[in-house]
Amino acid sequence: MTGWVYPDRNRMDDTMAPSTLPTATALDTARLVLGVLLPTIAKGPIIRRPKVVGLFSRLELDSRSMDIVRDVHSRYPAGPLMLKLPIRKQAIALAPEDANTVLAQSPEPFSPASSEKKAALSHFQPHNVLISRGPVRTVRRALQEQVLDTGHPVHHLADTFVPVVEEEMQQLLAEAVRSGSLPWDDFLDAWYRVVRRVVFGDHARDDKELTAMIIRLRRDGNWAFLKPVRRKTRERFLQRIGEELATAEPGSLAAVMAGARKGEGAEPIHQVPQWLFAFDPAGMATFRALCVLATHPEALADARREVDEDTSGRRLLPYLRASVLESLRLWPTTPMILRQSTRPVQWEDGLMPEDCGVLVYAPYFHRDERSLRSAHNFAPDRWLTEEDDGWPLVPFSDGPVVCPGKQLVLLLTSAALAALVDGHDFAVEKGQALDPARPLPGTMDNYSVHLGVTPRA
Ligand code: HEM
Repeated sequence: MTGWVYPDRNRMDDTMAPSTLPTATALDTARLVLGVLLPTIAKGPIIRRPKVVGLFSRLELDSRSMDIVRDVHSRYPAGPLMLKLPIRKQAIALAPEDANTVLAQSPEPFSPASSEKKAALSHFQPHNVLISRGPVRTVRRALQEQVLDTGHPVHHLADTFVPVVEEEMQQLLAEAVRSGSLPWDDFLDAWYRVVRRVVFGDHARDDKELTAMIIRLRRDGNWAFLKPVRRKTRERFLQRIGEELATAEPGSLAAVMAGARKGEGAEPIHQVPQWLFAFDPAGMATFRALCVLATHPEALADARREVDEDTSGRRLLPYLRASVLESLRLWPTTPMILRQSTRPVQWEDGLMPEDCGVLVYAPYFHRDERSLRSAHNFAPDRWLTEEDDGWPLVPFSDGPVVCPGKQLVLLLTSAALAALVDGHDFAVEKGQALDPARPLPGTMDNYSVHLGVTPRA
């Protein structure tokens, strides 16, 4: 139960009988598969399906999934728990210690390159770090960290990026004030402009074809093994990225990538789609945080105080960064963190076989009202204290495979929120109700939201 593992088989001694891990009954396996795994996949693991998200929101299906996990965990406290599946060795880490162990001991013996993730991401980035193993993973990870400035809260190109965010948000606001409304789609268009300028530079600002290409391939990615790879489209897409890197515009991530030190097997072209793909959830988290701020006057006042008193040029806005983290805690955009054991792993409660899928279902930990203060409410200050230390709040994953873009995401999203709330008031006119006096819903359907926008009173 304490979650320790013997990653090296040779360290097991005779007193550690290699019994297998606790295994769920067929019925409990069916509840987890039908009530948690399949619904989460139906929402779209690689790109969301808006209609399914709407259905989830109406039926509160995410909350039901969390209830199922809680109930199953209460009956199998020791873990991780093996599922009784005919074709796949699969476990779920239900205890917080076990989830922490899996993430801390990645990529070995818990590799992020699980079979289903490989199948899904190969539709557009077959040599990406996230689905790589062995020495090339180390090389690709080092390249990502170098370009994304992983260890630094403020990316070294912040002086270029923050004004880009500011400019696009001001244009978005001007249009929204003119039309009187800010729907999700308009926000997403503006966000994609930010993403293209940050990744490739100003020349790509209106290159919607590039975005359309990856969206098409990501839709296929949702089907993983079940859809053949469109090789020609993927080739054209990767070729486009290659051209962008070859003529990279100074001040863009592409230029940093072009000039970076690269080890053997780095495959720089294949590292870039992850950026385009993963900036999507960053936009979603920003818009969701904006919806919460629009409906939570106290949080909005705190956010505006921070913006008013800021001396960092909007590079370091702890409360707004925490607001984005809190939006991702409440509505994680990577709800299923997947790993696969690269060898047999001895846990305190039994042996996990090689090639066993391991699921960390983030919403279960993120909303655990037995362990977290205000688990179902917006409390960004939790990220500014040590109150949840040791608890798996893992919107960006954790450990050696933690998202290397985390700080860059927080820089850009907090700058976007600052630009939005500084001079304008927002009200949710259509879509999801968010009441500070009530628990926030398990699903946040950003697609249905229209925000009213007026200059700040
Ligand atoms: C809100 C936005 C984002 C969230 C919530 C997020 C979350 C995550 C998570 C949970 C993982 C680990 C996945 C796993 O273990 O299976 C991950 C990996 C990764 N993310 Fe992000 N991410 C975001 C945005 C970005 C952006 C914008 C970039 C790049 C510009 C990026 C680059 C990466 C890369 C390269 C990996 C693979 C790391 C590895 O395999 O070592 N992410 N991200």
